[in-house]
Amino acid sequence: MAESTLEQLCTIYTDLSADDIQQLKSVASTLQMYADLSDAYMFIDCKMKDNEQAIVVAEAFPKSINAVYENSVIGKIVFDSFEPGVFYSYRKGKKSLIRQAVTQEGRSVEQSVVPIKNNMHQVIAVLIQEKEVYHAMPYTNNLEDLPFGQESIGYVLGDKNSEMPIVSDLLMEIFLLTDHENKLTYANPVGVKFITEMSHTEEIQNVNLVELLPFLKPVYDQQDDVFVSELTLDRKNLVVKKIRLRKKDEMRGTLLVIQDLTELRTKEKELMMKSVVIQEIHHRVKNNLQTVASLLRLQMRKGISEESKSYFEDTLNRVFSISSVYELILANEDAEDDDVDIIELTKKVCSTMTINGPNKKVGLIIRSNGNRILTSSRKAVSIALIVNELVQNSLKHAFPGDTRGEIIVNFYSKADSLELHISDNGVGIKQTKSSLGLEIVRNLVVNDLNGEFSYMPEDIGTHAAIMFPVSPEVIIYYEKENIDS
Ligand SMILES: Nc1ncnc2c1ncn2[C@@H]1O[C@H](COP(=O)(O)OP(=O)(O)OP(=O)(O)O)[C@@H](O)[C@H]1O
Ligand SMILES: [Mg+2]
Repeated sequence: MAESTLEQLCTIYTDLSADDIQQLKSVASTLQMYADLSDAYMFIDCKMKDNEQAIVVAEAFPKSINAVYENSVIGKIVFDSFEPGVFYSYRKGKKSLIRQAVTQEGRSVEQSVVPIKNNMHQVIAVLIQEKEVYHAMPYTNNLEDLPFGQESIGYVLGDKNSEMPIVSDLLMEIFLLTDHENKLTYANPVGVKFITEMSHTEEIQNVNLVELLPFLKPVYDQQDDVFVSELTLDRKNLVVKKIRLRKKDEMRGTLLVIQDLTELRTKEKELMMKSVVIQEIHHRVKNNLQTVASLLRLQMRKGISEESKSYFEDTLNRVFSISSVYELILANEDAEDDDVDIIELTKKVCSTMTINGPNKKVGLIIRSNGNRILTSSRKAVSIALIVNELVQNSLKHAFPGDTRGEIIVNFYSKADSLELHISDNGVGIKQTKSSLGLEIVRNLVVNDLNGEFSYMPEDIGTHAAIMFPVSPEVIIYYEKENIDS
C-alpha cells in the first residue's frame, strides 16, 4: 500500500526513472524496522520536478514513543527554508546533521539526513531520521506548564526585558508575532518599520494585523499551519512564511517571517537584461557571418577559376560551421545559457555540407551513445570547424568518382575525456603532407581543446581520432549508463 503511494507520488511529482523508484521502494520497505530500532521517525523525501521543493514519499513512525507527528506527512511539500538539511544533502550528496531543527510541523528534532544515490551516483532522494529533542531544551523544568510556542518563541526572540539586543533585533528579516485574534504582540525593529511604512500608522501594538495590512489576509486565511508564499505589491517582492503556534488543537498565535526580496528581484532583472544584450550580440555575430558568406558567394558568381572556386567553397563551409554555433545558441529557449549541444551542432554542420557539396552518394552516420554533450560557445566553434574539415576531407578525397561509401562520426564519452572519431571506408589517406585543412584541425585540437589528434591505422579507409579532456567548458550528461572503456 505505502509502496504503491510512493510509486504514484514519484511518478506524478518527480523526474525519477522507473529504476530509481524501484530502488526507493526497497529502501522504503525497511523504514519501519529502522524507526523501531532507533526510536526515531524516518522519512524519504524526493526533489520535485520544478527542483524548488521536495515531497515526502515515505514515512515510518516508531511504535514505542508518543507521537511527534500526529498525522501522516506523506505527500507534504517540504520547503528549503524550513528543512535546510534535506536540501544540503541533495545539493552536496553528503550527510547532514542538524541538532535542533524545527520541522515544518513546528517540532524540535535532531535531524540526520543522508542522500540516496542510484548506481550512476546521482542523488535520487534523501533518507531522514528525526529524533525528538524537546526535553533537551534549556527550559525543561516547567515546560509542560507553558503554552506551546511561547517558550520556543522566547528562545528564538530573546527576553523582552533584557538590556541586550535580542536575536531578532539583529535580523534583516521581518519578525511579527500575533496572538490568537491576530493582534500584533511583537515586531522586531525592521518589522515595526515595515508595518508603519505599509499601513501609514504609528499605532500598531495590539492592533489586528490583518486589518492593518490587508494583503496578509490570504496568508492568515490559509489552512496550513506552515505556509510560504510570495507576494508582490507596490513594486515590492515579499516572501512571507507563516507558522501557526498551537498547543494540541488550540491556536495560540502566528509567527510571520517576511523577507523583502525587492532588491534581489531588481538585480535578477538587471542580469536578465544583460543576457538579452548577449543574445543580441550573438544575433549580430550570426548576421555578420551571413554577410561574409554572401560576399564570398557574390565574388564566386563574378566568375573565378575552377581552382579558386574550391578555395572559396572551403572558406564558405568554414564560415557556415562557425555560424551554426550561433544559430544553435539563438534557437536555445533558455536565453541565459550559451552552451551548445555538440551532437546537434555536428548534425547541423554536416547537413549544410551535404547540401552544398556535390557528393550525394555518401552516407553519414552520427553517434553519441545517447549521451548529451554540452560545451561553451568558444569550444563549440572549434569543434564545428574540426568536424567540418575532417568530414569535408572524407567527402572530397575518400570517394573519387562515383564511389559509394560511408562516413561515421562517433563521440565516445569517457569519465574525464571526450573522443571524437571520424572515419570513412574510402581509399585511405596516402600522403601525409597536410594542407590548410589539417593545419586548422591540429591547431584547434592542441591550442583550443588541449587535446590530441591522430590518424588510427586501418585496413580500409581513414580513421581520424581526437581526444580532449572534460572541463567546466565541456560537460557530458550520461543519459545512459554507458561510459565506454
Ligand atoms: N579521408 C581522407 N581520405 C583520403 N585522403 C585524405 C583524407 N583526408 C585527408 N586526405 C589527404 O590528406 C591531404 C591533406 O588534407 P588537408 O585537409 O590538409 O588538405 P586538403 O583537404 O587537400 O585541402 P584543404 O586545405 O582545403 O582542406 C589531402 O589532400 C588528401 O590527399
Ligand atoms: Mg581538407
